[in-house]
Amino acid sequence: MSLTYTWLGHGTSGLDVDGTKVIVDPFFTDNPAATVKAQEVEADYILITHGHSDHVADAASIARRTGAKVVSNFEIATWFQNQGVEAHGQHLGGGHDHGWAYVKLTLALHGSALPDGSDGGNPCGFLITTPGGQKVYLAGDTGLFGDMALIGEERLDLAVIPIGDNFTMGPDDALRAVKLLQAKHVIPVHHSTWDLIEQDADVWAEKVRSETETEPHVLQPGESFTL
Ligand code: NI
Ligand code: MN
Repeated sequence: MSLTYTWLGHGTSGLDVDGTKVIVDPFFTDNPAATVKAQEVEADYILITHGHSDHVADAASIARRTGAKVVSNFEIATWFQNQGVEAHGQHLGGGHDHGWAYVKLTLALHGSALPDGSDGGNPCGFLITTPGGQKVYLAGDTGLFGDMALIGEERLDLAVIPIGDNFTMGPDDALRAVKLLQAKHVIPVHHSTWDLIEQDADVWAEKVRSETETEPHVLQPGESFTL
């Protein structure tokens, strides 16, 4: 079993799970941190955490070109289906076996309005369990919440969490999140795309290293980490 995580800049992630290509929150075209173009991205599945444009912007075009299936909450899945995109709706706390992984929607404290003003339901994170038993938690855009401790009970191999502040957890709350999640590895995202969310991820990683058992991995956009 192999699982490779790639940070594609901002809140956009790529997962390769034994050859299945998964894009989470595709935002390439207007993303100053993107290292690839939306037209070049390969995808079998597209996971969407919430409706904000910096998370759904390129989803429909990539899904149409690649035939990738969108997985999100029921409201967002329906919004994509109404645009002719194949989509699978789930909801908070609910998991489904998509073959390449069992994907469960977790809580997130954030908004979820879609770019055209449609109701995007509630925002979520994703807990991904591969057939080989590896567990990856993608927090999505969220503030700190105490029930991250429940997610931590799942014994995570990797947690991908925002540290940018302003729209999501900042570095201090993200450090508290690491302590609740107790993952083996953590990767910081949703930072330094714009000045407003500029953070020194290396300084943050040093605190994670000194205060927790979790191993931080600071990636640059385009860089990968293999479990
Ligand atoms: Ni957002
Ligand atoms: Mn965002």
